[in-house]
Amino acid sequence: MNQILQLIQKENLTKEDLTYLIGLAGEEREFFLRETGKKYVETLGNKVYFRGLVEFSNYCTKDCYYCGIRKGNAKAERYDIDDEAILQAARFAHEHNYGSMVLQSGERSDEKFTKRITQLIKKIKEATQGELGITISLGEQTEETYREWFEAGAHRYLLRIESSNKELYYKIHPQDDNHNFEKRLNCIKTLQKVGFQTGTGVMIGLPFQTFEQLADDLLFFKEMNIDMVGMGPFIEHSETPLYAHKDKLWPLQRRFDVALNMIAALRLLMPDINIAAATALQAIDKMGREKALRYGANIIMPNITPTLHRKDYQLYENKPCTDEGAEDCGNCMSIRVEMAGREIGYNEWGDSSHFFNRQEQNKK
Ligand code: 5AD
Ligand code: FES
Repeated sequence: MNQILQLIQKENLTKEDLTYLIGLAGEEREFFLRETGKKYVETLGNKVYFRGLVEFSNYCTKDCYYCGIRKGNAKAERYDIDDEAILQAARFAHEHNYGSMVLQSGERSDEKFTKRITQLIKKIKEATQGELGITISLGEQTEETYREWFEAGAHRYLLRIESSNKELYYKIHPQDDNHNFEKRLNCIKTLQKVGFQTGTGVMIGLPFQTFEQLADDLLFFKEMNIDMVGMGPFIEHSETPLYAHKDKLWPLQRRFDVALNMIAALRLLMPDINIAAATALQAIDKMGREKALRYGANIIMPNITPTLHRKDYQLYENKPCTDEGAEDCGNCMSIRVEMAGREIGYNEWGDSSHFFNRQEQNKK
């Protein structure tokens, strides 16, 4: 336990340290999580922030091998929620003092889509008197598009690298222009250049993935000076190519445990970033997201997608909360946050302190 305490106090964790922490099990793991949780509340405080999540469309032009809404899945029931319903969800988030919302969909980059989003962002800003913070998660786009959306009023962007290891990246994506590792990396850099608070993340427990690669993922976030991270366990979907490797996967519980270890280790490595308690955690453990909040996460995303379509945004199977309405989801979430001993920062954007610290550093 002494070694773990030493690592918790250590300034610059190495790849070796991180690999060790990520792989912890049993009592040592519990000790590590508990002590990290204590340290994190002492430094970052108790507050967690809501982001009302709207998964407004599952049309997707890409074919990632892990994802249930990939273009090649003919069984996915496709939908696209109209602007008025999205605006209603935004008003709901605003009225319930959520502070911010996240707009997410499958990836499209045709002009009809990009222009629609620009207008939508402006309409949401207008409908909420500029008070509701807007995070978007709409994949790889040109610098021009990113700029247009930023100027329309979105100020945070999520684009997961999925794995920072190029070899593994190409095991979980087709090798073509539409799924290019360097391109994705450049998109993250462009988002930072444009001025977004930039978030990325990875999946944990992918077939072929090792603890060393996961440690490298954490170091990648640090090296990239990332402001926000969302990462969760990989959950196989039967209508995707990766399902063929299901026998190689760690048991679900192990994937869950390692995901929490990753969150806690990242909190040590980057004390001032925003870390989301990913929904996929709850697909494995009913209390998954609360546990993440205890040990390092400070962001939670109640689903406010109109219930009719929730079941169709199935990136993975057994997705939780697909029957609840937005109201139920928010209530349930506030109880959960309190159960985790945390407090909700109502009416606050809950921006990443790292973003502002990074800007201060740039000025020097
Ligand atoms: N299991 C877990 N997470 C997944 N995602 C996509 N498919 C799966 C899956 N099968 C994650 C990806 C993506 C985010 C929106 O959802 O990391 O970036
Ligand atoms: Fe849609 Fe990967 S399958 S972005």
